[in-house]
Amino acid sequence: MAGSNDKVVLITGASSGIGEATARLLAANGARVVMGARRTERLQAIAKDIESAGGSTRFRALDVVDRADVEAFAAFAEAEFGTVDVLVNNAGVMPLSPLSALKVDEWNWMIDVNIRGVLNGIAAVLPRMEARGRGHIVNVSSIGGFVVQPTAAVYSATKFAVRAISEGLRKESDKIRCTCIYPGVVESELADTISDPVARERMRSYRKTAIPPDAIGRAIQYAIEQPDDVDVNEIVVRPLATQV
Ligand SMILES: NC(=O)c1ccc[n+]([C@@H]2O[C@H](COP(=O)([O-])OP(=O)(O)OC[C@H]3O[C@@H](n4cnc5c(N)ncnc54)[C@H](OP(=O)(O)O)[C@@H]3O)[C@@H](O)[C@H]2O)c1
Repeated sequence: MAGSNDKVVLITGASSGIGEATARLLAANGARVVMGARRTERLQAIAKDIESAGGSTRFRALDVVDRADVEAFAAFAEAEFGTVDVLVNNAGVMPLSPLSALKVDEWNWMIDVNIRGVLNGIAAVLPRMEARGRGHIVNVSSIGGFVVQPTAAVYSATKFAVRAISEGLRKESDKIRCTCIYPGVVESELADTISDPVARERMRSYRKTAIPPDAIGRAIQYAIEQPDDVDVNEIVVRPLATQV
């Protein structure tokens, strides 16, 4: 199986942006892709495209905040394809705002999806992977996991957390591979969750220079297709013309 392309890859947040592009790319290269997100009509359309192109995929409604739902997602993948080789913990939200705006519900939403969602994913697949003595968890952090911009204190905190969780997982296991991906600005629907006018305006110029989401899909594919004893731990992918 070293470097094989037919792995069973679970992707959270596969209904748009990076998750969608990664699902399409991996499926086109032979992976059996299991997609999860809340917008199932989107997943259905993506699955139809993948299957028409000869790819192999399944999808299921998924809310990463709900631990039982994430467990059911992993069980679904196992029932459909017999195993879970890779989990891509990609689902995330980014309702940016200055701390002084006290958008506490949005802070909690980011903590729930971006941190608890990642932990729920790990909790769902880790016992399965440990039982088999192999597996790969890919977490999607952000450049925000290294640098903090105004309006991004809480978002960055969640992405620092994803970085810490990834590093901890890496050090705790010599059987499960762990990759943390740090994208710079990527074309997606991520900024649509911003309700604060100050942050929205700031992001308009910040997000002007962006790369397509399949740039991140290729980084994820690179990590997955390495031989089993090669653990690609961190990949940073920025647009060329960026100073952040
Ligand atoms: N785009 C960038 O510039 C950039 C940069 C650095 C890092 N990232 C990270 O990349 C990841 C993907 O974001 P994106 O840029 O591709 O944005 P996106 O287009 O908004 O995609 C986010 C995905 O997350 C899913 N999602 C949100 N809440 C969810 C929940 N509770 N349960 C399950 N799925 C949920 C969404 O699906 P549903 O709404 O259908 O559930 C969607 O598929 C995020 O972790 C983000 O922080 C993005």
